[in-house]
Amino acid sequence: MVYRYLRHGFKRAIIRRIIDENYYIKSFYLDVNLPKIPKPGQFLMIMPPNGEEIPISVSGHIDGLIRLTIARVGYTTNLMHKLSINNIILVRGPYGNGFKLNNDKKYLLVGGGYGVAPLIYIAEQLYGKTILLLGVRSKRDIILIDEAQKYCGKVFISSEDGSIGFKGTVIDLLEKLVLTEDFDEIIACGPEKMMYKVMLIAERYGKDFQASLERLMKCGFGICGSCILDPLGLRVCVDGPVFDLKILRKTDFGKYFRDEYGRRVELK
Ligand SMILES: Cc1cc2nc3c(=O)[nH]c(=O)nc-3n(C[C@H](O)[C@H](O)[C@H](O)COP(=O)(O)OP(=O)(O)OC[C@H]3O[C@@H](n4cnc5c(N)ncnc54)[C@H](O)[C@@H]3O)c2cc1C
Ligand code: FES
Repeated sequence: MVYRYLRHGFKRAIIRRIIDENYYIKSFYLDVNLPKIPKPGQFLMIMPPNGEEIPISVSGHIDGLIRLTIARVGYTTNLMHKLSINNIILVRGPYGNGFKLNNDKKYLLVGGGYGVAPLIYIAEQLYGKTILLLGVRSKRDIILIDEAQKYCGKVFISSEDGSIGFKGTVIDLLEKLVLTEDFDEIIACGPEKMMYKVMLIAERYGKDFQASLERLMKCGFGICGSCILDPLGLRVCVDGPVFDLKILRKTDFGKYFRDEYGRRVELK
């Protein structure tokens, strides 16, 4: 069975390390021979035994291993969370464009939930030059905080229940810090509604903006149309998943998405 998939561009990835980041998120360190080292913002299509194929962003390239940080939300992510060291999964990629990073720019990174994971990969590459705003519901949701503190110039945390850092949403925190922190561009990763609000703030203050979008993906390489961003017809898997403010403003970003049947559904 596995060999049939290997003929179709999949690679065997051996899980070398697993870290429990919190009560529902784990990081998997994969030993896999990909055609290219993924850039921050790129993703892999992964398939555990008996699972479906799902897209997951790369959260680091550490000691030659590819790290994926995965939240347990449904069928396939549950299967991933049951795996152990030395188990094998199938992967293909890297796919997508990745973030456009410029060493001369100062970036403010805004992450919600597991959305912080790909931002840590940026922070590592721009060592010491980024400011990170990390939004969680509660202290127990925090992930990758040691790396955030190691790689970012400054880290600010918001929690909705006030159990850690600023009490409120990451948007409330951003509204406060946008006036005092020195940066040129905002990069957001997290729930789409959150990223939409971040975009409006970036626009209001004349800052550049990039966001990494999550749309339902089936093929991951531009043929099935399930990840379309209307009305421009952009495919999040190949034209994205990272888009800038100019493009996003012309789309249904933050307002609608396509469900598993291709229906256009309002984003609540
Ligand atoms: C470019 C991209 C990068 C991503 N990176 C990460 C990451 O780094 N870490 C992480 O934990 N998750 C990431 N996701 C989301 C992840 O793909 C979904 O959580 C996963 O597909 C759910 O599969 P499941 O079988 O466990 O859940 P299901 O049982 O299929 O569904 C559970 C929930 O997940 C949502 N979902 C299902 N399939 C997808 C899909 N293909 N894309 C987006 N949402 C989906 C459903 O709407 C539902 O709310 C990313 C998604 C995209 C598009
Ligand atoms: S996932 Fe198939 S076109 Fe994007």
